[in-house]
Amino acid sequence: MDHHPRIASARAAKITILPTAEEASQFVAERLVTLVQANPTCRLGLATGQTPRRVYAKLVAAAQDEKVSFAKVETINLDEYCGLEQSHPDSFAAYMHRELFSGASFDTSKINLIDGAAKDETAEAARYAALVRSRPVDLQLLGIGTNGHIGFNEPGSPVTSRVRIVELSPETLVVNQQTLLQLDRVPTRAITMGIADIIDAREIVVLATGAAKAEAIRKSLSGQLGEACPASLLQIHGNVHWVLDKGAAQLQ
Ligand code: PGA
Repeated sequence: MDHHPRIASARAAKITILPTAEEASQFVAERLVTLVQANPTCRLGLATGQTPRRVYAKLVAAAQDEKVSFAKVETINLDEYCGLEQSHPDSFAAYMHRELFSGASFDTSKINLIDGAAKDETAEAARYAALVRSRPVDLQLLGIGTNGHIGFNEPGSPVTSRVRIVELSPETLVVNQQTLLQLDRVPTRAITMGIADIIDAREIVVLATGAAKAEAIRKSLSGQLGEACPASLLQIHGNVHWVLDKGAAQLQ
């Protein structure tokens, strides 16, 4: 088995294919650690979901081994379900504290999260929109949905979209149902950064693992670009690195 990363160029994108999800996650974690070592006050755009959990576990281990300090790093999260308190175990805020922030000793005053339980959701979206616009990130970490979504920018999201309240697609509701810890049903609405906000990042790293992502990856990297597959819109960004395991890359 070839254990060396295969790097090819598709449009402006860089693609690294590794044999396993573990190795792909290690590769991404090393990129993040290298960035923070070089720039301890950098700003990271962070994602939730099953995919980045391995990456976050490795960042926690690196911080606990004192290979890197996240004490001065600022973070901005991509999205949040509407209607959940940040303390609710199914909120993305709780996920971030559980999977990364607590174990890796982030400074809570430098963490930016959406308040999904805000009484005035429109005002909360406007607050976050202004915050995101004023703080472009050095590196945005992304997963990808089976329908090609990035953040909660579902198919049909315009390339010009900014932070806003969205309805989740039926496919996302089904997929995310399996990830719930306490809720019976996935919330149907969310606040998400837009495609244009994501594209403002200096560098973007997309991590995708498993065969369920192969079709979304194929569409994203086919060279065709359109709202039907939101991740394909990343092709207009000049510095996107796609890190895939063999399953996610199998239709390349
Ligand atoms: P997943 O989600 O990592 O749980 O597959 C990715 C996403 O929906 O962006």
